[in-house]
Amino acid sequence: MRTDLQWGGRFAHAPDADLLAFGSSLEEDIPLAACDVRCSLAHVEALAGGGIVTAEDAQALRDALRRVGEEVAAGTFPVWARAGAYEDIHGAIDARVRELAGEPGARLHAGRSRNDQVATTLLLYVREQCEALAALVRSAVLRLLDDAEEELAAGTLVPGMTHWQHAQPVALAFWLQAWATAFARDARRLSDAAREARRSCPLGSAALAGSTLPLDREASARALGFDAPSRNAMDAIGNRDSALDALHAATRAVLTASRCSEELVIWMTQEFAFARLDDRASTGSSLMPQKKNPDVFELVRAHGGTAIGMLTGALATVKGVAQSYQRDLQETKAAVVHGLEHAHAVFAAFERALGYVRFDRERCSARAAIGFSVATDVADALVMSGLPTRTAHERVGRAVAQAEAEGRELDAGDLHALGVEAPLDGTASLAAKRTIGSTNPGEIRLAIAALRGELQP
Ligand code: ARG
Repeated sequence: MRTDLQWGGRFAHAPDADLLAFGSSLEEDIPLAACDVRCSLAHVEALAGGGIVTAEDAQALRDALRRVGEEVAAGTFPVWARAGAYEDIHGAIDARVRELAGEPGARLHAGRSRNDQVATTLLLYVREQCEALAALVRSAVLRLLDDAEEELAAGTLVPGMTHWQHAQPVALAFWLQAWATAFARDARRLSDAAREARRSCPLGSAALAGSTLPLDREASARALGFDAPSRNAMDAIGNRDSALDALHAATRAVLTASRCSEELVIWMTQEFAFARLDDRASTGSSLMPQKKNPDVFELVRAHGGTAIGMLTGALATVKGVAQSYQRDLQETKAAVVHGLEHAHAVFAAFERALGYVRFDRERCSARAAIGFSVATDVADALVMSGLPTRTAHERVGRAVAQAEAEGRELDAGDLHALGVEAPLDGTASLAAKRTIGSTNPGEIRLAIAALRGELQP
């Protein structure tokens, strides 16, 4: 019989190697190794605090765990070479601790189950990943705000569109700040998920019912930076809500990046030509010598679909899991780890590629005020002169039809006929906007300042 597994006393046979390998998550668990070591170090505090191990044994355990931590960081942790030989990283680290520490090593798992260990380790990982991704998303926000400030100073306009049809002129800075606002929401969602993952510490819940050992759960929760120990052992070990919330938040950030990528791809067509992509981020065609493609943004868009699939897979994994621990939960680890790593990689590429986008200021501005996009401002002016909005809408609509028939935009003659003064060019249209959150440059400046303030730690 193997003595390095965590069970066996009541078994007459060693596990079938193929089935053990099938049931092993060791390879997928590798990104969790460092968190598992931290989790075990905190468990040592619970054991020592409760007088379950002597101070000496506690020190021997800490030393062995720190050594494992170093091996993990250096990539020399020996069991990695034996993927499939352990059910999971938790058992593998336990075996290594016993190898390194001898007899005290066999005391580490007292009062602990892999159930509370897995739940705790995953929360630590999720917290770290959410914080790292939130930081990355915030750097995208800052980049967009920097660009917005530059475009504001340059006075660049762009057609504001709905249904991909010219609607009203806006500042290019407004468009950039719109994306910054959406990404800031993503960053908040990730930070909220990290905060929730910190609320309650499952460690010390044991298998499902708590323990007869006097574990110092306050000590382990504190050591791991949780607010408090969890209050229901059964819920604590089977709860994957925070992990799923984190994956959802990460997926949402990828989806915002996917939407933004779609828009950029369109802006980069010859038909739009609002933006170009620097050579360093572009790709060519193996056949057509003239081609220069924005593949990176197409890929980000595609990865949005992959991310949805990963989230959906993870959600589906838990849908039939009864209270307490079912082995299905092992699969949530891989789903969450892969999903968060995927989101991070996609977002990092997106953020990098954003730095290679160049806007054609003249082209953007020139296209901003065509397509009767100041018509709403003219109708607003009629409303301010006392006309009911329906009448104003009707009259300006007729003026638009007339101008369209004559192949021209609305002009001073139309305003004269309507008896109003209203902006006819994009810049004047922006300046005429009066509401909070509008594309008036003053409002954009305020909104940028507010977003920057929000991003201060
Ligand atoms: N290998 C499992 C996981 O990583 C832990 C199993 C815990 N409990 C059990 N009775 N099998 O999620």
